[in-house]
Amino acid sequence: MKKIIIAPSILSANFAALERDVNIVEKAGAKWIHIDVIDGHFAPNITMGPAIVKALRKTTKLFFDIHLMITSPEKYWQDFQKAGANLITFHSEVQVDKRKLIENIKTSGIKAGISIKPKTPVSDIEDLLSCLDLVLVMTVEPGFSGQFFMNDMIPKIETLRKNIDQNNYNCLIEIDGGINSQTSSICIQAGADALVSGSYIFSAENPAEAIKSLSL
Ligand code: DX5
Ligand code: ZN
Repeated sequence: MKKIIIAPSILSANFAALERDVNIVEKAGAKWIHIDVIDGHFAPNITMGPAIVKALRKTTKLFFDIHLMITSPEKYWQDFQKAGANLITFHSEVQVDKRKLIENIKTSGIKAGISIKPKTPVSDIEDLLSCLDLVLVMTVEPGFSGQFFMNDMIPKIETLRKNIDQNNYNCLIEIDGGINSQTSSICIQAGADALVSGSYIFSAENPAEAIKSLSL
C-alpha cells in the first residue's frame, strides 16, 4: 500500500497561535503543512503572505506546501520561495505563461504544482503533467475551509491517475477541500497521493487520530 501524504491546512488553525498549532500536527505525524494564500481577488478571502511563511519556517522543518490562490503568481512566487516554500502551486485559471512559471519555480530549487478549480476540466492542464511535480484538484470552490466535498470531482482524480500512470510521469495528485475520514478513502481509491485537510484536523479533539483516520 502506498503511503498517503496528509497536509493539514493552517487556514483552520488558530492564527494567534500558529506556531503551537503547527507543532501539534507535526507531533501528530504530519509531514507537510498546507498554506493557503488568498488575495481577495482570485478568491473571496484574504489570508496570509510571505512574512507569515518566513516566521513559521523558523519554527518547523515540515514540508511547506504553498497553495497560491492569487491572480498574479508570477509576481509573488519568489517571495514565498525565499520565505521557505518547498512546493509552490498556482492556479491554472490565471493568465500567465504556465510552462515558464513552472520552469522558473523548479529552477529555483523547489517543486512546482498547478491547481484546478471545480469547474476547470483536467484537459486544461494535461499537456503540463510531464513537467509538473504535483497537480492539485480542488473539491470545493477556493476561499474558505469547512465547505462540503464535491463528489462529482472524483472522475477528475481517476482521469489524472490513468494519465500519470500510463505515461510514467513523476507527478503527485493532491486533493483539497472537504476532506474527512469518509471522503479521504474515496479520494485514495480514485488515485490520490496527498490529501489536504483543514477543519477536520484542527477541530478534532485528537488531531493525531484524525490524521491517522485520513490515510486508512
Ligand atoms: C480552500 C483551501 C483549502 C481549505 C481546506 O480554498 O484551499 O485548503 O483550507 O479546508 P477544509 O479541509 O476544511 O475543507
Ligand atoms: Zn488549499
